[in-house]
Amino acid sequence: MQARPTNLDESKVQPYTLPDPLVMQDGTPVTCAAAWPARRAELLELFRQNVYGRSPPVPARIPFAVTGTDDRALGGLATRTEITLCPTGAPDGPAMHLLLYVPNAAPKPVPVFMGLNFRGNHSIHPDPAITFSANWTRYAAHFDAAKDGPLDASRGSRASRWPVAKILGRGYALATAFYGDLEPDFDGGWKHGVRGALATRPPPAADSWGAIGAWAWGLSRALDVLEQQPAIDTTRAAILGHSRLGKTALWAGAQDERFALVISNNSGCGGAALSRRNFGESVARINETFPHWFCSTFKRYNDQEADLPVDQHELIALIAPRPVYIASAAEDLWADPKGEFLSALHAEPVYRLLGRPGLESAEQPPLNHAVGGTMGYHIRSGKHDVTAFDWDQYLAFADRHIPRRAL
Ligand code: GCU
Repeated sequence: MQARPTNLDESKVQPYTLPDPLVMQDGTPVTCAAAWPARRAELLELFRQNVYGRSPPVPARIPFAVTGTDDRALGGLATRTEITLCPTGAPDGPAMHLLLYVPNAAPKPVPVFMGLNFRGNHSIHPDPAITFSANWTRYAAHFDAAKDGPLDASRGSRASRWPVAKILGRGYALATAFYGDLEPDFDGGWKHGVRGALATRPPPAADSWGAIGAWAWGLSRALDVLEQQPAIDTTRAAILGHSRLGKTALWAGAQDERFALVISNNSGCGGAALSRRNFGESVARINETFPHWFCSTFKRYNDQEADLPVDQHELIALIAPRPVYIASAAEDLWADPKGEFLSALHAEPVYRLLGRPGLESAEQPPLNHAVGGTMGYHIRSGKHDVTAFDWDQYLAFADRHIPRRAL
């Protein structure tokens, strides 16, 4: 069946009714903070069953090895450590290569920004000592070059998205890994990643996890390993992601309450944007183009979004009361900037119930102007990307919520 045509005209948005994050499935209203954990558990289960699928249990032990370290990296600014971990617990299973920079000047332990990257660790900075990602080379042919710019194998090709020196200078560590280490991003890629390694019941069940689930789960396994690094304060771990990896960051943060702060950069459909708002990418379009991202039940809602028992504002609510930041870009209509804002706005009642200030703005703010308390939001001018402006807001938000120690 042909998916409904994409709507990019605000005047053609149809009315919709969102499920209420503060009403239980059986109709009981959630009126006090003590009643939230039960609703939270219910929502989490609905997202597992209907959207992202179910993640496997946490392995008893995550084997890892430090493969390289240099305490005079980046001209003495940082200690660079490379860690290879085995997220499934099996030493001969898929390997995740974590690149960690820790600022030398900051009092330890330091808070950390964590996020997956699209092009291999070597793409985030020209530092010649970063191990070139073999998995990036292996799977580069599967990249959607038209959407993501020409394939560039060079070191630092994505440095504009990762202002490493600025992050370190502000007293934060940075931990990143190539998302393709967990699963290369194409239909059938599961065979080469953690889903394949852990598969117990092909063909997959309706609620078997999709690739987004696998990437999110891998971030939690990286956090397991960072917890064993004395220089890192994992009680102050921020997780961030762009686009499909923004969807991933939200799902990781929703499930794993150890992530103290969650940032979604232009995550769009299946991320921060409301599914019921017919603007930009739709559930049908995303399932058609990326059949491997979500669980198979999600396909039931192709052009039937009103039947979903959840909507994406409830994904954001699952992060409450922890700080969450949603960022949009004005020219990124495919991701529905307004739908991303509204999702945050409709999650706000949960933050309020839990005694936290929310967005503090009922209207989408003007361009390039951040708003918010425990929830942050901005829409910046420009395209689908991660820019210096975005990072300036994230660092300011982190300074407010997971501050570094005083010298
Ligand atoms: C496509 C896709 C989006 C996704 C984006 C990205 O545009 O339709 O859902 O967020 O790729 O990850 O860059």
